Amino acid sequence: MSDKIAEEGKLSAAKRALSYVKDDMTIGLGTGSTTAYFLRLLSEQVCDGLAIVGIPTSKSTEKMARKLGIKVATDFSGILDADFDGADEVDSSGNLVKGGGGALTREKIIASNSRKFIVLVDDSKLTEGHLSRSKIPVEILPFMAQLTLNKLKTMAISCEVRKSFTTDNGNYIVDCNFGKIDEPGHLESQIKMIPGVVEVGLFVKMANKIIVGSGDSSYELNY
Ligand code: A5P
Repeated sequence: MSDKIAEEGKLSAAKRALSYVKDDMTIGLGTGSTTAYFLRLLSEQVCDGLAIVGIPTSKSTEKMARKLGIKVATDFSGILDADFDGADEVDSSGNLVKGGGGALTREKIIASNSRKFIVLVDDSKLTEGHLSRSKIPVEILPFMAQLTLNKLKTMAISCEVRKSFTTDNGNYIVDCNFGKIDEPGHLESQIKMIPGVVEVGLFVKMANKIIVGSGDSSYELNY
């Protein structure tokens, strides 16, 4: 798929997602290029009087939202009305790989505390059957990182520490190749049992709605 078509798909998904934002909502603001389209469109609505509070899932999203005039809060103790975020890969059951931008931990905290988790993707992110194309980002503590990495390596085909990168939480990202993932929930639990692992970029049975942009049109998958 050409970059131009993928970008068009991201914009179409973002446009459709906007119809789920209503006055007085508190919403999660995801991270990545697809969410960036959503933020730009959202800011236009805010300019026209839409009253929302956004909870950013990363420092970069916080910066962008503030610049666009969207009201943000970085401390919140309730349940968000909805969370809008992108994904790197979506399987036929709506399970996701996230964390291409390294924001997976904050993204998972926000998604799991939202009434609706709405995912925006262009159709190049869809995979028939099981997750298989993306490496799975794993956030790990810097403390004794090599020991955590050794354990991850026993489970994966290969693992690579993301070069010159630390997360907003001051941690490392390890991108792991697990091949085709038949049981993402099981794999997620196994990885999370390794001491030193903070979070895994597998979002299993979390999405309520996937909005898929395909060129200049879009459609929805509901779970
Ligand atoms: C950020 O850490 C990620 O989870 C993104 O949501 C994901 O990588 C999708 O990004 P794009 O919208 O840029 O493809």
